Amino acid sequence: MPLILVLVECGLELIPKNIRDHPSVKKNFSSRIYSSQILDTALHHSAMKNLANSEKRGRPDITHLCLLNALGSPLNKSGNLKLFIHTINNRIFKINSEIRIARNYNRFKGLIAKLLIDNHIKVNGNQLISHFEGGLYSLINKIENPEIYLFSSKGELIKDNRDLFKDDPSKNIVGIIGGFQKSSFSEEILKLSNNMISISDYSLDAWVVISKIINFYELYHNII
Ligand SMILES: C[S@@+](CC[C@H](N)C(=O)[O-])C[C@H]1O[C@@H](n2cnc3c(N)ncnc32)[C@H](O)[C@@H]1O
Repeated sequence: MPLILVLVECGLELIPKNIRDHPSVKKNFSSRIYSSQILDTALHHSAMKNLANSEKRGRPDITHLCLLNALGSPLNKSGNLKLFIHTINNRIFKINSEIRIARNYNRFKGLIAKLLIDNHIKVNGNQLISHFEGGLYSLINKIENPEIYLFSSKGELIKDNRDLFKDDPSKNIVGIIGGFQKSSFSEEILKLSNNMISISDYSLDAWVVISKIINFYELYHNII
């Protein structure tokens, strides 16, 4: 019954060493301030020009908005959402449904920097974000009887979104959403499923998509 969502290729990383001497990085960087250590295209755009795959990197704001939408939903509050984030550097983290994500963006960046350095976020012995050992394939392999949907504007358009979850109830629904602004899924992610679907005539922001999927699922399971 819980919906499993994986936000993939999120632009979350510490500022790579090879651009730490760039003026736009030096201007804000402090080894004492966690939030200043996260790559953020709004601050480091000119330093990022020569980074490979730069269109998917330095976007902690996208993950922030997705997490706020997902964790604040009735689906999550009712204990029916399992949420994972996968970073551009192939690290996977499981988000505890009880975490209260900072509303403030700088505080969120600080939390993510700490997560990437310590590999978990623990408060009073409570694991709020934990590291998943392994890649996306091992994550999927651990899920019993999964039905995997790759959400993409290039997928087959589902005209009536009420039909989206009308599948075999014995299956565990896994939704994969890109945590990036431009570009499409990597080859590795495309191999996870042939089931690529679109929920709109438009290319939407990831946080809108995550909200809509959660809402369809809530309506289908009568969670209000
Ligand atoms: C801003 S989009 C990435 C850009 C890309 N052109 C796209 O639409 O797939 C971020 C993510 O939102 C999801 N998404 C965006 N539009 C969608 C749509 N119409 N149907 C399903 N998923 C969508 C996809 O998972 C996508 O990776």
